Amino acid sequence: MSHSTSDALASLQHSINGKSIAEAVETLIAAYPGAVTFSTSFSNEDQVITDHIAKNHLPVSFFTLDTGRLFPETYSTWSRTLEHYSISIKAYYPNAGELETFIESNGPNAFYDSVELRSRCCFIRKVAPLKRALQGNAVWITGLRAEHSPNRQDLQSLEWDEGNGIIKFHPLLHWSTEEVSNYVQQAAIPYNPLHDKGFVSIGCAPCTRAIRPGEDFRAGRWWWEDSSKKECGLHTH
Ligand code: ADX
Ligand code: SF4
Repeated sequence: MSHSTSDALASLQHSINGKSIAEAVETLIAAYPGAVTFSTSFSNEDQVITDHIAKNHLPVSFFTLDTGRLFPETYSTWSRTLEHYSISIKAYYPNAGELETFIESNGPNAFYDSVELRSRCCFIRKVAPLKRALQGNAVWITGLRAEHSPNRQDLQSLEWDEGNGIIKFHPLLHWSTEEVSNYVQQAAIPYNPLHDKGFVSIGCAPCTRAIRPGEDFRAGRWWWEDSSKKECGLHTH
């Protein structure tokens, strides 16, 4: 990160510190009009952010990455979210040719065979579509929380994403699971019913399982892999 980018980020961070989510997003919109976007995976965290953006009619574009392997419950949460709010959510899809070649060479469930094949699947289904989704934007809002992963503990709510050349904003970075679920209940907003069945962080169906009480939050993602490798490439720190 250049000195000028790092200074601009620090000054932006200073100007949003202590502000509500809506006020912070408004500040970012004022700095980058028409270039603030939010990625939703319809998790409880994302539903809280959707609620803030939609209720305050903030001019932020919504997108989701439909990997093609999401849970049926995630698709139904997506539909219920559209019914509940007057928003449109653009879905981004993997490149059909790349996916066809990958599946033809490796089969439909190659992610269980090696970290390399799993990363390739994540790249085709998530990372490459993400790059298209972020094009033309200056700020990317996410529902990332520090509790979800050890590599997320030291993050600031604003972060420079070198790989994508974009500022990331994580408004719920320091919220607890309880705060998130309390908000969802009190605001009576649609949510993914898998959260009631022990799913904390919800990704693709073949790669996500419920966790048991006391288990690490990330234990339910790519559980067959070494824990140091458990990132899909959407978020690199
Ligand atoms: S991941 O890196 O493990 O896949 P995680 O499930 O923790 O991500 O989600 C963190 C944030 O990444 C979400 O709040 C959301 O902003 C974004 N995200 C994750 N998966 C998707 C998806 N399929 N579509 C859009 N955004 C997503
Ligand atoms: Fe493929 Fe699993 Fe990654 Fe989804 S989480 S893109 S199914 S490897």
